[in-house]
Amino acid sequence: MMATKTLPAWRTKLQASLQRHEGVPFSKFFQLATIKPDGRPSNRTVVFRGFLEGTNDIQLVSDIRYNKVAEAARNPAAEVAWYFTDSREQYRLSGLLTMVGPDHENQALQDARAAVWRGMSDKARAQYLWPAPGAPKTGKEEMPQQPPPAADQPPLPTFCLSVLSVKEVDYYETNGQTRYKYSLDGSGDSWQELELNA
Ligand SMILES: Cc1cc2nc3c(=O)[nH]c(=O)nc-3n(C[C@H](O)[C@H](O)[C@H](O)COP(=O)(O)O)c2cc1C
Repeated sequence: MMATKTLPAWRTKLQASLQRHEGVPFSKFFQLATIKPDGRPSNRTVVFRGFLEGTNDIQLVSDIRYNKVAEAARNPAAEVAWYFTDSREQYRLSGLLTMVGPDHENQALQDARAAVWRGMSDKARAQYLWPAPGAPKTGKEEMPQQPPPAADQPPLPTFCLSVLSVKEVDYYETNGQTRYKYSLDGSGDSWQELELNA
């Protein structure tokens, strides 16, 4: 986790892409790849939940019972691929994933987990009461009878905030055929920008 001083160029670009696609609901979806215990890639669509306050880290949420949570706990290397349809830009953001479940010890991250939970709809919060996701369907699953916990209640134990600490960004824009690589230097303090052949 790195505190933001001035925004890196990739983030300024990404925020402009988000703003331009404000009316396009699916512009908040991106693909997140993690690594399975046997070394194979694992990829899925998730929803962008903003930046962790005061940092350039990307937030998303997940049920703690999903594979990505155990995968990232074992190997935190991860990459996001995010495509913006109108501007034809692709961002590939790679870095390290931190999974913030109920037992995570960092209080600032627990506060962030509670803040994201508060910002979610009743419908989205209710999903964290569902029967074990990814388990084979038996037909005997019991859907929860109780309403979802209120937003101001603590997050359910199945609720996991995931935070991607971005280390490198590959930006590709197909209209003008421009490509840039942004890398965080070894001290983690400043970003280097390098223009690449597309
Ligand atoms: C449009 C869309 C949005 C999704 N958003 C999320 C999300 O924000 N978080 C999440 O864990 N899964 C989300 N999913 C489900 C994942 O793609 C995936 O099926 C699930 O996380 C299980 O993956 P895993 O077991 O490999 O972790 C979404 C699926 C779709 C189609």
